[in-house]
Amino acid sequence: MAESRILIVGLGLIGGSLAAALRAAGHERSIVACDPDAAEIERGIQMGLIDGGDTRLTPLVEGASLIVLAVPVLAMRGVMDELAAALPEGVVGGEAPRVVITDVGSTKAAVRDCALAAFGELPAGLVLGHPIAGSEKSGVAASDPWLYANHKVILTPAADTAPSAIARIRALWQACGAEVLEMEVERHDQVLARTSHLPHLLAFTLVDTLARQDERLEIFRYAAGGFRDFTRIAGSDPVMWRDIFTANRDAVLTALDDFEVGLGRLRRAVEIGDGDAMLATFDRASHARHYFDSLLNQSSYQAEYHMQRQGKLTFRAAPGGRVAGRIRVPGDKSISHRSIMLGALAEGITEVKGFLEGEDSLATLQAFREMGVAIEGPHQGRVTVHGVGMHGLKAPSGPLYVGNAGTAMRLFAGLLAGQAFPTELIGDASLTKRPMGRVADPLRLMGAVIDTAEGGRPPLKIHGGQKLRGIDYDMPMASAQVKSCLLLAGLYAEGETRVREPAPTRDHTERMLAGFGYEVHRDGDTCWLTGGGKLAASSIDVPADISSATFFLVAAAITPGSNLILEHVGINPTRIGVINILKLMGADLRLTNEREVGGEPVADLHIRYAPLKGIDIPRDQVPLAIDEFPALFIAAASANGVTRLRGAEELRVKESDRIQAMADGLATIGVEHTVVEDGIDIVGAGDRDVSYGGGRIDSLGDHRIAMAFVVASLRAGEEIVIDDCANVATSFPGFTELARVVGLRVSEETQEVEA
Ligand code: S3P
Repeated sequence: MAESRILIVGLGLIGGSLAAALRAAGHERSIVACDPDAAEIERGIQMGLIDGGDTRLTPLVEGASLIVLAVPVLAMRGVMDELAAALPEGVVGGEAPRVVITDVGSTKAAVRDCALAAFGELPAGLVLGHPIAGSEKSGVAASDPWLYANHKVILTPAADTAPSAIARIRALWQACGAEVLEMEVERHDQVLARTSHLPHLLAFTLVDTLARQDERLEIFRYAAGGFRDFTRIAGSDPVMWRDIFTANRDAVLTALDDFEVGLGRLRRAVEIGDGDAMLATFDRASHARHYFDSLLNQSSYQAEYHMQRQGKLTFRAAPGGRVAGRIRVPGDKSISHRSIMLGALAEGITEVKGFLEGEDSLATLQAFREMGVAIEGPHQGRVTVHGVGMHGLKAPSGPLYVGNAGTAMRLFAGLLAGQAFPTELIGDASLTKRPMGRVADPLRLMGAVIDTAEGGRPPLKIHGGQKLRGIDYDMPMASAQVKSCLLLAGLYAEGETRVREPAPTRDHTERMLAGFGYEVHRDGDTCWLTGGGKLAASSIDVPADISSATFFLVAAAITPGSNLILEHVGINPTRIGVINILKLMGADLRLTNEREVGGEPVADLHIRYAPLKGIDIPRDQVPLAIDEFPALFIAAASANGVTRLRGAEELRVKESDRIQAMADGLATIGVEHTVVEDGIDIVGAGDRDVSYGGGRIDSLGDHRIAMAFVVASLRAGEEIVIDDCANVATSFPGFTELARVVGLRVSEETQEVEA
């Protein structure tokens, strides 16, 4: 930063901390300050924060290239008037203003209005800003050089603010270690009204209310952590807060109105002893709070809520090794989603165990909380869903965010089409590219009104309140998500909803509906149900996910000396393509301890190394192994001879184009292959210790691509580094830990990236 002189107007905690942070960052040029209190200036000089100062502004303006206004919002107008008079004509305007002015006020529209009034226009060199940092302390003595480190600073430039001025203010805050974002003025004021002004208002009110009561000394004596945590900010500067509430009146009142509605709802629940309503609110709040914590800690939890992950996760897999042991992989993702969906719509309490605590299924769970369903857990895979009945869901207050989860979005589309209220479904960047016309089109045939973005992509706006009628639908693709979506909509439709599938797909929805007492019929390739029935709560034991188990099946299958048991794996006949394909390739794979748990068959899978051979993958196995191909491509790369896959065009519309993503990765590690539209030929390197090389792979944020290349390291000659792996947490939380337990040599690395 090469500002010749920085002038800070208002040397309190915020202005003083800015000077302290700049000094700590090695800023050697002059910093001066103006403050009505001469003692504050003196203290600032003694603390080494500023080189000089004055109680009058005008004498300090000359020679300053950057002016920071750190005075209370209602003092802004006077300061701006003085600045406008003192600054030479034109220095804050033009394409490259000589003098740049910024502020730190908590509300922006009011400060913008002051500037307009004082200067007659918004000068191109004025960049309004707001550091989201502070403390209940005030005065320069409380200055903290780290106050802004890792905090956000929001800039609210206007359309004609000079880019060079914005760049200078960015550099100022970045030098203090802050992260700089931009926002429109109005949006800033609304967001801050909710996240900062409302909580301050509540804290001031609570402390004041208690302090007025006669027995106040008694009360404060017994006030413990809850009181202290909640009211810390009531010790903040009263003048500053009077100014903020005066300046941001309208946005604060709107936020307060919303809050009063919530308070009234909870008051009523307490009054009538509605435990479910209380639980629903507390659970939602508790999870939202944990989510907020995880954002602060930059760890990944479920819904990203429009925010990019702050850190990028990379896996490093050292070459070689073998796998051995007895493990249980996390619960089945498909069944976990459905357990919450049907549990929520059922009458009574559904107990789930083995629930997958991955981001995808947690997104489903959170969405139901947002629709008023009380859900306890998950605690070590246990979830208790307090069903609200077929018509008991409530309108959520905003869009439902389902993250990376295609299953959640497509199944929700059907379920929500049957509700009386409108909803919007949104997802992360990857999900936003995936086709939703496949569900929106047949739902429209049933009478639903749904808007999609261009090309049938998310977001999905479901109007709700429509009368649905059953249809007889011939699915153009083999998709369990489409089938399930229509069956869920069919629960709300008049008459029969029939779905014909071109090839068998996973039937968890049908099985679970039956488990909840809802009749689902099947005849050959067609299943159907009649709308208007009810679901009765049930208990669900979610088996381990065969799709997650696959990574370890392939790991053992390709590595001499391996011997591994995977416990309690779901072996639903519509999911066992991977078992059939690996056996055809010559794998030594045995099923033991076969049993049925809650309507789903499970078994322990025992796999030992045996040399694999390339095969033509039977087409009828493709839908039964649809999620397993990334790992199976690695099996093929390590087998003797060519493996051919055809009829797998659906792989191109998964979390990534999995044919291309895998082909690119295989090319990097030196595996010969030929891509075709609906499949691939992979030339296996044969039964050698080292089948291919290493390299750096982009998983494209696709969890299964990332895990497949970790497995590949077992037969690689060099390290395989895989980027963009955070989404592994969508389906397989704890993957690398478990991989290390059985003998893989994989580690995680997080790089910070700019948001
Ligand atoms: C799923 C169905 C499959 C599968 C997905 C889960 C489900 O998708 O790939 O991971 O739970 O119904 P399609 O229905 O698009 O094939």
